[in-house]
Amino acid sequence: KPLKIAVIPGDGIGTEVMPYGVRCLEAAAKTFGLELSFQTFDFASCDFYDRLGDMLPPDWKETLAGFDAIYFGAVGMPDRVPDDVSLWGSLLKFRREFDQYINLRPCRLLAGVKCPLAGRKPGDIDFWIVRENTEGEYSSIGGKIFEGTDRETVVQETVMTRTGVDRVLKYAFDLAQSRPRRKLTSATKSNGISITMPYWDARVREMAKGYPDVAVDKYHIDILTAHFVQRPDMFDVVVGSNLFGDILSDLGPACTGTIGIAPSGNINPTGAFPSLFEPVHGSAPDIAGKGVANPVGMIWAGQMLLQHFGFQDAADAVLGAIETVLARGDAAVITADMGGKGTTKSLGEAIESEILAA
Ligand code: NAI
Ligand code: MG
Repeated sequence: KPLKIAVIPGDGIGTEVMPYGVRCLEAAAKTFGLELSFQTFDFASCDFYDRLGDMLPPDWKETLAGFDAIYFGAVGMPDRVPDDVSLWGSLLKFRREFDQYINLRPCRLLAGVKCPLAGRKPGDIDFWIVRENTEGEYSSIGGKIFEGTDRETVVQETVMTRTGVDRVLKYAFDLAQSRPRRKLTSATKSNGISITMPYWDARVREMAKGYPDVAVDKYHIDILTAHFVQRPDMFDVVVGSNLFGDILSDLGPACTGTIGIAPSGNINPTGAFPSLFEPVHGSAPDIAGKGVANPVGMIWAGQMLLQHFGFQDAADAVLGAIETVLARGDAAVITADMGGKGTTKSLGEAIESEILAA
């Protein structure tokens, strides 16, 4: 009956922000009468790797498959373990083996956050980016011939399957339909990429027939990136292939503040496997151990987890608490990346108190 959450703090500041992420979820559970259970794991960390020579135990998949969701901090300590080993040996295995085919990121300008775009205020930017997370441009089909000669040739294929394209579009259309604006923007490049992108566009048109109440538009990726910066108020839900979604899902949050606050969901909407919620940032070795990391990205990722499972009141309260504390802008509370003198503890506890008071 309780929602079972696997907690994986990982490395560096992941271990510092995670306690406040869990405390804020516990506060939301208390305030709204939710049943959440937490179990913490020490794998997917470089400490685990140092002890056991691998990022994960052999039975990780069976272990984690028994949970409803994974709440993940950050992984990587490049001085000790190469990044490709730590990342491919943990997080990317979760994404692939648990078929987390949606990567979801909010792009929302919060009060109290300095917007890098001139003249934008809270409320102006509030949209979601839905990225296809399993196929597309990031396929391993291809090869290299005539290496070392002047005929040297490399090829890497884009793979789009009807199932793969339709399932991400369906998720994006459903999300758009659930929001007041009911607007979906598709990222394309069908003027230059003449086979896969027209196919993507055709599947968007086909899917749109089932959502007559959702307004659909599409832009080529080049002008779309310009619109992200110049006209971010025009978006509600933006959907893109793996590559285009990757670019947009870094650009969008970058337009709304610091890396310390952005969250991300890697979602398997079928529920066949657990979905994973994490801050966008990494383990930040440069500030690790000092207790000054911004916990907002971690806490906001927990808010996405609540929203994913339909606990909308609790999710609204967590986001409201984040906004209240950041808007207050107390320099003694907020962290250095946002111009304050506070700590992970001061900011994390301030948000926790707001949730308990909701
Ligand atoms: P990073 O996100 O860890 O840090 C980039 C910069 O942002 C650093 O200057 C850091 O101090 C700052 N920063 C990040 N999060 C912050 C926070 N919460 N509060 C205040 N400042 C914050 O990215 P970087 O340095 O490229 O990677 C470090 C390690 O993290 C590498 O091993 C990398 O592979 C790993 N990484 C892991 C990710 C994950 O677990 N999903 C994502 C990105 C990187
Ligand atoms: Mg990226």
